[in-house]
Amino acid sequence: MDHFTLRDGVLYAEDVPLSEIAEAVGTPVYVYSRATLERHAQVFRAALSDLKDPLLAFAVKANPNLAVLKVLQKQGYGADVVSAGELTRALAAGMDPQKVVFSGVGKTHDEMLYAMEKGIGQFNLESEEEGYELSLLAQRHGHRVACALRVNPDVDARTHEKISTGKSENKFGVPIDRAAAIYAALSDEPGLEMRGIAVHIGSQLSSLEPLESAFEKLGALIREMREGGLSVTHADLGGGLGVPYKADDVMPSPAEYGAMVARITNDWDVRLAFEPGRLIAGNAGILLTRVIRAKRSSNGPPFVVVDAAMNDLMRPAMYGAWHDFNAVVPTGERMTAHIVGPICETGDTFAMDRETDALGAGDLAVFRTAGAYGATMASSYNSRGFVPEVLVDGDKFAVVADRISPSAIMDAERVPDWLG
Ligand code: LLP
Repeated sequence: MDHFTLRDGVLYAEDVPLSEIAEAVGTPVYVYSRATLERHAQVFRAALSDLKDPLLAFAVKANPNLAVLKVLQKQGYGADVVSAGELTRALAAGMDPQKVVFSGVGKTHDEMLYAMEKGIGQFNLESEEEGYELSLLAQRHGHRVACALRVNPDVDARTHEKISTGKSENKFGVPIDRAAAIYAALSDEPGLEMRGIAVHIGSQLSSLEPLESAFEKLGALIREMREGGLSVTHADLGGGLGVPYKADDVMPSPAEYGAMVARITNDWDVRLAFEPGRLIAGNAGILLTRVIRAKRSSNGPPFVVVDAAMNDLMRPAMYGAWHDFNAVVPTGERMTAHIVGPICETGDTFAMDRETDALGAGDLAVFRTAGAYGATMASSYNSRGFVPEVLVDGDKFAVVADRISPSAIMDAERVPDWLG
């Protein structure tokens, strides 16, 4: 559920007509709804209410905007970060460092040091090698850091191959059959306090089954590790729950997920952590765009050329992802069109043969479900700027990220003297 609804023939974000935002801020622009973010944060928490004090760590990669993080911080969320940059953002939003987990296969020594000096709650180690490096660094700087070992359970998450992370051929975590031995070896490291295991098998999961089988494997591993005399007090179950991008997408509900987790982890006796990203932010944002013109095609529906492009919302080009596309002021008439951006490659196509509201030059439209992996994946390809972001709260709204113009980006470049 979200708070982008038609009222008197105009699409609103909460109590603000999107046309007013377009007027004030220009297009393209990302628009987020605070009420939707809060609702999702609360629904997810409620779904886990049978668990003892779970850590809810928002996956910052999904939407790292500071205002979005602040909304979630106020909901008691911590953060799952994968870079020093994300950690800086989480802390700037006031998140408790103890509620931060640091994932990622390529943490650099500088990033490790920065994170330990900020006192983060947990490092999720993705390899044995990383564990030894972290231990050395920690000892050298007088720390002992809490760690979980990320396990690759070798399950097929049955999602897009580019966002699947739990198969043995993926780069993430350590193979589950070696996990206990690696954990034991790392438990002897003086710089590390090995306290648990972590798993994340992929994103936009439309079925609970792969998650359930990954968690079952984890449960068996915990038992095996304990039998071997190892201490396990924490388990991080990652993120991954899918959200509906189309009206008829059926996704597992947070409540079903919570019930499954409670059932599987019933006898684990650990503190659980979760890293939801898309579930919290996906449907809390839209990308507002204006039609530049409609162009006849040689033998099919027209091209509707909008002022947003693949550099602003990369998901369709990168994953063939579907984003619903609606007029801000629908007339009731419909059309079939190819929805494209202005960028000079065919990949800059949001949808082919899409049945949509009739739209012409100057009309406003939205790509829905753009609150996760939208603005954060933008680039400045074709020397386009970065799209601004707006947060709506009831009848007020604020620009929470400025538009960055192409010339501002150019200002960071130099032509060396020796080029003349
Ligand atoms: N934890 C870890 C370790 C992750 O790698 C991810 C996502 C999450 C949590 C959050 O997953 P979520 O709850 O959002 O599914 N750019 C892609 C998605 C990439 C996801 C990467 N990892 C997309 O636009 O679909």
